[in-house]
Amino acid sequence: MEKSIRSIVREQLPPKQAGSIRSDRAIRLDKGEFPYPPSPQVISAIQAAASGINRYPEVLTNTLRQAIADYNQVDLDQIFVGNGSDDLIELVLKICIEPGDEVILPVPTFFVYGAASQMLGGVTISIPRQADFELDVAAILAAITSRTKLIFIANPNNPTANLVDRAALIELLDQTDCLIVVDECYFEICQTTIAAEIEKYPNLIVLRSLSKGFGLAGLRLGYGITSPQMVDYLYRIAQIFPVNQLAIAAGIAALTDLDYVETKLAEIKKERQQLAESMQALGLKVYRSDTNFLLVSCAAWNMTSSVLVSQLAQQEIFVADFGGKPGLDDYHLRVATGTPAENQAFLVTLQALKP
Ligand SMILES: Cc1ncc(COP(=O)(O)O)c(C=O)c1O
Repeated sequence: MEKSIRSIVREQLPPKQAGSIRSDRAIRLDKGEFPYPPSPQVISAIQAAASGINRYPEVLTNTLRQAIADYNQVDLDQIFVGNGSDDLIELVLKICIEPGDEVILPVPTFFVYGAASQMLGGVTISIPRQADFELDVAAILAAITSRTKLIFIANPNNPTANLVDRAALIELLDQTDCLIVVDECYFEICQTTIAAEIEKYPNLIVLRSLSKGFGLAGLRLGYGITSPQMVDYLYRIAQIFPVNQLAIAAGIAALTDLDYVETKLAEIKKERQQLAESMQALGLKVYRSDTNFLLVSCAAWNMTSSVLVSQLAQQEIFVADFGGKPGLDDYHLRVATGTPAENQAFLVTLQALKP
């Protein structure tokens, strides 16, 4: 008897697109990455750990969790780890979403929240942010139903780059028992956190990443801070080896070389300011940024972002097109801060494309 695979597998989601292969000359400002290599201490730690990868990693990765707990001045049982925040977003959804449950997303926001929710059968409820991309707390609270399980708030938000008002977050935490995930993927850049509130709100889950502030995006390492009870539930669902041996070694080393990160992030913030001013001088609208990337509107150039982004790509300069994405018009793009040389090359090309 012939059965088509399609009739066996779960509900279909759109296929993923392979990323384009880029030459070494390409300037990559499209993924919000740390533009420098990680700390030399991290590279040495990975090299030293490499000869031990015939062994499985620690089951609950307590050594790494302790280093993360010390960095955040919390207890080990308030920390969980995974393969980047993307993995943790999925893990959090897995502990609470049954098909038909609702997930609230203040849009525009990071696309993985919606994609991961839908993959698990969740229904996403998009609530527009205010004109300045602040949360519309009243609208979020009004959208909560008996099926709402989770609210995702990226802080700073991607792609809008802004931190939201702390009072708005506290109001949400005060007014609902749903799980509230505050995704602080860019914490090292903005140094703003709600993590101290985990003692008061057991439904608060703070997510962090070593991709952005520590330059480990290719390694895949993230962690969360929440109540010990929530950590216990998360680890019941998590894989037995939640992160690999090289990531454990690299994570511990990264957290002991904070001077490196501080120096590089100071350079990135200085460059971000210059990049913003230069784009403004070219007539583009640049939104306030509390992180390492800039949301830009090219409406004043009378050119859609998709045209501008593809013209830049022809010159091997990659930025992210957000034109027409939920909550944004056809003129938005996101530009990460690169190295000084990358930013300069980008600006020269941009100027040449100005109508
Ligand atoms: C808000 C936000 N959360 C999470 C992620 C994913 O981070 P990670 O590399 O840790 O999976 C990103 C990546 O751009 C992001 O912008």
